[in-house]
Amino acid sequence: MRIRVLGAAAGGGFPQWNCNCANCHGVRSGTLNTRARTQSSIAVSVDGERWILFNASPDIRAQLEHFPEIHPRGVRGTGIEAIVLVDSQIDHTTGLLMLREGCPLKVYATDMVQQDLSTGFPIFKMLDSWDGGIDYHQLAIDGSSFEVEGIDGLRLTAVALTGKAPPYSPHRRNPHPGDNIGLLIEDTLGGSSVFYAPGLGDVDDRLTTIMQRCDCVMVDGTFWQEDEMALAGVGTRLASEMGHLPQSGRGGMIEKLRALPEQRKILIHINNTNPILIEDSKQREQLNDEGIEVAFDGMEVDLGRPVLVTTDSV
Ligand code: MLT
Ligand code: MN
Ligand code: ZN
Repeated sequence: MRIRVLGAAAGGGFPQWNCNCANCHGVRSGTLNTRARTQSSIAVSVDGERWILFNASPDIRAQLEHFPEIHPRGVRGTGIEAIVLVDSQIDHTTGLLMLREGCPLKVYATDMVQQDLSTGFPIFKMLDSWDGGIDYHQLAIDGSSFEVEGIDGLRLTAVALTGKAPPYSPHRRNPHPGDNIGLLIEDTLGGSSVFYAPGLGDVDDRLTTIMQRCDCVMVDGTFWQEDEMALAGVGTRLASEMGHLPQSGRGGMIEKLRALPEQRKILIHINNTNPILIEDSKQREQLNDEGIEVAFDGMEVDLGRPVLVTTDSV
């Protein structure tokens, strides 16, 4: 299985258009050891030809242009077979509008996300005006697995998470299972697996057990600390109010990931205020010491497939 990080930043991207915090200023002026990142999305494939997009970012146009393997081969076309959504946030769904020329779009999402995208942020309804609109497939959160039509060899399982529905969601103050999910993605031939959860408010024992079964986890890297927005002088909202588990502190992500000594551990969906974006920061050094990586745009994770030995070649 191959995973390509299309965008490693949280909503707003890095730098964020209206932000002049130390990080955003530093990346713009080139005075900090870091690199810009676009908004949150990955692509996964087993054959390098047909890809599943996990989330459709507002930056999708540039992300696809920088990824030749997903480009059209005929006069019109795409390597994108389907899109799976983890929530109904702007940073994860607005890219569907940029993909309108490719309707019908095969989209997998929970019924909660489908409701948000038909009411509070009705892009599913808007896209009805394009040929075939959204070809919606409901994602169950009862532990059952599914395969994406047109993709052989990848088994997906949606896992309901503690998180927050977006501000325009009818569920913002009334959380429902399925507002936020993570995805267990398994290569059924090669045997490798990854757990992808860019937004994650808590890691409980059930989730730890799921992650321990995987070769790699790509999880919420939004904030280093609970009051990071206030500390950077850019807002008052706490990480927990936004449904994100910070990395530092008791019960934080670093502590949770210690339960995964064998796994490759990658933080993704990183907010522009987070000091881990700076490669020579002490926070980044702490992650290095813990064996935790920080995703960047264009990062490739190849979990491999066994080489098939035929009788001819023995
Ligand atoms: C979040 O996950 O909390 C979002 O990135 C926030 C946003 O897009 O405004
Ligand atoms: Mn987000
Ligand atoms: Zn900033």
